[in-house]
Amino acid sequence: MRVLAVGVATLDIINTLGAYPQEDDELRALAQRTGRGGNATNTLVVLSRLGHDCSWAGMLGDDAASRRILHDLHEHQVNTQWVCVHPGGVTPTSCILSSQATGSRTIVHYRDLPEYDAAAFEAIDLTPFDWLHFEGRNVPACEAMLKRVRQMLRPPTVSLEIEKPREDIERLLPFADVVLISRAYAAARGCADSERLFKLIRPLAGSALLFVAWGKAGGWLQTADGVNRHRPSLQPPVVVDTLGAGDVFNAGVIHGLLEGKAPVEALATAVRLAGEKCGRQGLCLAPE
Ligand code: FRU
Repeated sequence: MRVLAVGVATLDIINTLGAYPQEDDELRALAQRTGRGGNATNTLVVLSRLGHDCSWAGMLGDDAASRRILHDLHEHQVNTQWVCVHPGGVTPTSCILSSQATGSRTIVHYRDLPEYDAAAFEAIDLTPFDWLHFEGRNVPACEAMLKRVRQMLRPPTVSLEIEKPREDIERLLPFADVVLISRAYAAARGCADSERLFKLIRPLAGSALLFVAWGKAGGWLQTADGVNRHRPSLQPPVVVDTLGAGDVFNAGVIHGLLEGKAPVEALATAVRLAGEKCGRQGLCLAPE
């Protein structure tokens, strides 16, 4: 199936530590790796590994890091024809501390690059796509893109990731068929559990399917009729690396639904893939 995602790519600099440091500590990392990251492109790389024909629409800087990102995406068969390169722009970076003691990842992100805009999106022929995935970021631009999609005669299925509590981000909800919400967003909105989160989101999201990944507690889904379903998490023998687990969860939901599975089965696929990922370094997947 053909999937287009609009969102970001970053250069991730990942330091593995025995345990998370104290403020003002000085310590040596056990290992360091650098590579491409970013929610939308992480999700696409996983979807591509699952057999989908993936394209990325996003903004890159004009530097060595962006060439590295493009190389990585091409290695994963992700089409980059809709990518914009900002002249003189610097690729966003994330400095990440990955703790071996807990598997947690702490991300410090630096960005000084314009967001992908609605004019660039306008140039894309959307008719061949089966699925459009949006990272809910720059709200006015994202809203313009979503409005364009809703004007299509036969719009593809639209998923929207709500990861951070950005100003007015809830304005995007009525345009999505599938909403992928993070636990971080839930926490920022004062929701201690998925039930409260869905109560808050449902009136704004029409008949969309709502999904949330809740780490070790598993994943939840709410269907349009207000029924909540849960699938427990898959606990790997050792939690090695949780970086990108949410992006893998999102890919699992999209993959499951694209395969025609019932929403609760797509949720089961998503928690399984995300759990397996936490037992492994990086995004690589075990065969289905
Ligand atoms: C993981 C991730 C990293 C990236 C950061 C961007 O979900 O996509 O790869 O650095 O989040 O917010």
